[in-house]
Amino acid sequence: MQASPTIDELAQIQDEVDRIVRSDLPIVLFSASRDKAEEMYGSSIYDSAPVPSEISQLGLVYIAGLEFNAVSPTAAVANRTSAVGAIVIKKTKYNSKKRGWLDLTISVAQSNAAADLAEAVTDASKLPSKESIAALNPTPTEKPASDSTSPAVAAGAAGSGGSAAAPARKAAPAPAPPAETKPAAAASAAEGTGKEQVVNPWEIEAGDEGVDYDKLIRDFGCSAITPDLITTVENITKRRAHRFLRRGLFFSHREFGVLLERYVRGEKFYLYTGRGPSSESLHMGHLIPFQFTQYLQEAFDVPLVIQLTDDEKFLWKDLALEECYRLGKENAKDIIACGFKETKTFIFSDLDYYGHMYRNILSIQKAVTHNQVKGIFGFTGSDCIGKQSFPATQAAPSFPSTFPVHFKGQTNLLCLIPQAIDQDPYFRMTRDVAPKLKFEKPALIHSKFFPALQGPKTKMSASMANSAIYVTDSAASIKKKINKFAFSGGGATEELQREHGANTDVDVAFQYLTFFLEDDAELEKIRVDYSSGAMLTGEVKARLIALVQGMVAEHQEARKSATDEVVERFMAIRELDF
Ligand code: TRP
Repeated sequence: MQASPTIDELAQIQDEVDRIVRSDLPIVLFSASRDKAEEMYGSSIYDSAPVPSEISQLGLVYIAGLEFNAVSPTAAVANRTSAVGAIVIKKTKYNSKKRGWLDLTISVAQSNAAADLAEAVTDASKLPSKESIAALNPTPTEKPASDSTSPAVAAGAAGSGGSAAAPARKAAPAPAPPAETKPAAAASAAEGTGKEQVVNPWEIEAGDEGVDYDKLIRDFGCSAITPDLITTVENITKRRAHRFLRRGLFFSHREFGVLLERYVRGEKFYLYTGRGPSSESLHMGHLIPFQFTQYLQEAFDVPLVIQLTDDEKFLWKDLALEECYRLGKENAKDIIACGFKETKTFIFSDLDYYGHMYRNILSIQKAVTHNQVKGIFGFTGSDCIGKQSFPATQAAPSFPSTFPVHFKGQTNLLCLIPQAIDQDPYFRMTRDVAPKLKFEKPALIHSKFFPALQGPKTKMSASMANSAIYVTDSAASIKKKINKFAFSGGGATEELQREHGANTDVDVAFQYLTFFLEDDAELEKIRVDYSSGAMLTGEVKARLIALVQGMVAEHQEARKSATDEVVERFMAIRELDF
């Protein structure tokens, strides 16, 4: 049985860290397709799940003899271990549950080593051999459960498997950007635990227990949504807050309270949200921001603009441009099916509407430097220039002058942007640039990620169809997916469940119920009965199946009314009613 490390052992770890930093080992960054990398090295290249299925290209960081690990294809990676200056271990947390893994809080001396970034090697024949990697990375099952990313861990306490490369990435992001635009990864390195957690528009890497949202709020510098704020919303709208708010799915914000105060004093606002059209059909998680936005539109009776970033998906994915455009219009039907009010809602494709936004896009492009977007988004020299300028396109709709016809020339409207938390980097940039252009900063409200059926820490696999419920699924397939794949927090046998009850915190069927079951009293009864063992997993799943089947059938019905012609009406440039 291992115990917490002693002071001497910790000093040893620190020495080892210092040695690795000082020895100035070269860090090599490869860019390879995910398929190729998985074929060669299996899943040992990943620290932790989930890697979203849409990620098809990986960065692979290699320190010979020490570490080989997958990172975001856009990650900024130092080219030598010395580029971080020094790594200081601030705190450690020994986790006996996780086979003696040690969580470290570290700080780095130098986080602006822009000049020392590795250029990605794209020649696959240069990749290290499978054998040399097998020696570095044990397979995930042999790996300690809570994957840490500190070189100290690789070198010290746990003995093997930690990834020294990740802190190199964290420790040497591009130049320190101003104000709100801390790179997420750099923020984690500065005060985070050694445990991996990366959240940005292209990757979500969570620790063993899923994403730590409190830490995200701290790292990103947002504010938690408090019970008081929810009460304020209820008082203003004179209706019960949406269950996504009551149950904490929308959990974080920037200046939402300020917007509400100004609204109460008579200022007007509009809503802005969006979707990157990369797939034909949406799953339940995709609908969440739209369902919530629909509630906000109705409760506050405000106009709304919805951006379809067909351009973004063209730039980031291996999709033809016209396919992205077509997917956008298809997705618009699912969006319309969420119940938006036609007279108050403008849906637009970037491809169609770009010319109208171009003046504001240009002003934004002029006010943001290459180093800033590099710091925020981790772009490298090998990312195409389209990607580097795209953030301005997502920022522009935050300013009312981007919609002169819709808003009848009124440029004094405030803007509120409901979004999943991974979109926050775009709007940190937007909020930083706003005062330079003499525009108001938009207010933001963030949701958590919707868990996969297999649970928050599972990797989305190629058989993605089984990790989510799609709005196109049949009743039979919904039943099958939930029964077969929804991760259970209940006892392994009926007997065990009756005796010990379920852990509802990890039970996916119960989690889904908290998002979708409107009735508070029924939900509470299920929670009590399921955790005590009075209720069985099968019964909880049966409740969820009925609920989801009903929701999906309703959605499919509503989507039928969203014909091409209806889409065209929502997408027409016209005055909105407000
Ligand atoms: N980038 C987002 C995506 O890939 C789409 C988007 C554009 C968006 N504008 C937005 C999302 C505003 C939320 C809010 O899905």
